[in-house]
Amino acid sequence: MLERKELLKTGKAKALYTTSDVSKLIMEYRDDTSAFDGKKIEQIAGKGTVNNRFNSFIMEHLSKEGVANHHIEVSAPNESIVMSLEMFPIECVVRNFAAGSICKRLGLEEASVMDPPIFEFFYKDDDLGDPLINDCHITSFGWANEKDIEEMKKMTLQTNDILVKLFDTADLILVDFKLEFGKFENKIYLGDEFTPDGCRVWDKETKKKLDKDRFRLGLGDVVESYQEIAHRLGVDLT
Ligand code: TMP
Ligand code: ASP
Repeated sequence: MLERKELLKTGKAKALYTTSDVSKLIMEYRDDTSAFDGKKIEQIAGKGTVNNRFNSFIMEHLSKEGVANHHIEVSAPNESIVMSLEMFPIECVVRNFAAGSICKRLGLEEASVMDPPIFEFFYKDDDLGDPLINDCHITSFGWANEKDIEEMKKMTLQTNDILVKLFDTADLILVDFKLEFGKFENKIYLGDEFTPDGCRVWDKETKKKLDKDRFRLGLGDVVESYQEIAHRLGVDLT
């Protein structure tokens, strides 16, 4: 039986604990919901458990489709066991349609089609507002080497292909999302989470926003919308 040991790291919505097995961590999904680099934070009852189940469903699907990831198993309603990765301080974003920061940065109208999808790197630093960076920043500052960069791009675009199809079967549009990667024994794995906290999802017909933009923009029904996406994808939330 894997035992929970010490708190390793607290993020804005999750916490990581060490365990009796040095190669494994426990990832705890809290109800805390944050936006704008931690400037807006609220508790939303039930979000942690929905996100834990949601993430496990997506990670298992990605594993089956050949995207190596850190997820091992759900261990409690709001906890999962994951591999202990050495994370890159980088966020990989893919955009199929324009929304959020790219609209402001490039003066685009929301919902403009990005064809082919746009890949962007961001530096994971809330104090700096997670700035946009490119490959040169990453290699110059030693955050990852060129081979790692290529692998992260390849895995992110592969994830996009897989998930765009999956969401489409549920009449959902996967607008954009953010992934984080890490290394274990010199191999790159997808880490962190894939939940409606880190992606944009719209209803195909009405274009209704069903993701964390409901919280960012104060639209209400945050958990209800996450449950709606989960329900349509066939995620077991019990
Ligand atoms: P953006 O529009 O703020 O650049 O975000 C693009 C997508 O990536 C959106 O689905 C939110 C997600 N994202 C995060 O979840 N965390 C982050 O720190 C960043 C930069 C993006
Ligand atoms: N970087 C932002 C944050 O972590 C992304 C968001 O608004 O969700 O708060």
